[in-house]
Amino acid sequence: MPLNVPAPVIAIDGPSASGKGTVARRVAAALGFRLLESGALYRLVGLASRHRGVSSDDEPGLARVAAALDVRFEDDGIFLAGEEVSAALLEESSGTRASEVARHPAVRTALLGRQRAFRRPPGLVAEGRDMGTVVFPDAALKVFLTASVEERARRRYKQLIDKGIHANLAALSRDLAERDARDSARAVAPLAAAPDARQLESSELSIDQVVARVVRWYREGNPAGGGA
Ligand code: DC
Repeated sequence: MPLNVPAPVIAIDGPSASGKGTVARRVAAALGFRLLESGALYRLVGLASRHRGVSSDDEPGLARVAAALDVRFEDDGIFLAGEEVSAALLEESSGTRASEVARHPAVRTALLGRQRAFRRPPGLVAEGRDMGTVVFPDAALKVFLTASVEERARRRYKQLIDKGIHANLAALSRDLAERDARDSARAVAPLAAAPDARQLESSELSIDQVVARVVRWYREGNPAGGGA
């Protein structure tokens, strides 16, 4: 790849529990690309700010926390100021807090450079809410992954139960709908498909089918692009 051409990006956006995380990880593995789970950064800001007693309404305070985030992404976990926080980040309360801090433009701006730094050869799969619209508008492929709220609540329920975490299907469904509404209604970088994104409704598809379709779309558009 010529030095002056930025590494290709596949942007996968969509609502909570649409399967973005699993799909992005599998597509990255299939193509040998790096992975950015941008939601983890908002979850980390939520956690770090809570530890420091910064309110989810204090935009300048949250932006300072975001800019100074002392985080390491390692193979064996995510470390915040040296402390392993992978399990804490997965809790529903971390998702809700992340969605609250993510409303603030100054927080989003503070995380932009950190997200773009993940873009390195041979390529990047980036998943979140605004990967195709704001963070990587020049992505080689943009996918907007959806599924019905019932199906997403069922998937999240199964994920939690499999991990031994107590869950309630009705409460999950309600929380997801609330989070969707907040993520879609915010003024800055709302959850929305980029005009040039390909829509993928996954309620009736298996993970394997979704992954295969994304990899095929990428290869069709980028015949020389990575992967075996
Ligand atoms: O993808 P996730 O559930 O880990 O994301 C948690 C919250 O972070 C989500 O409800 C909204 C916010 N978020 C965001 O605003 N922009 C992103 N690119 C990713 C996540």
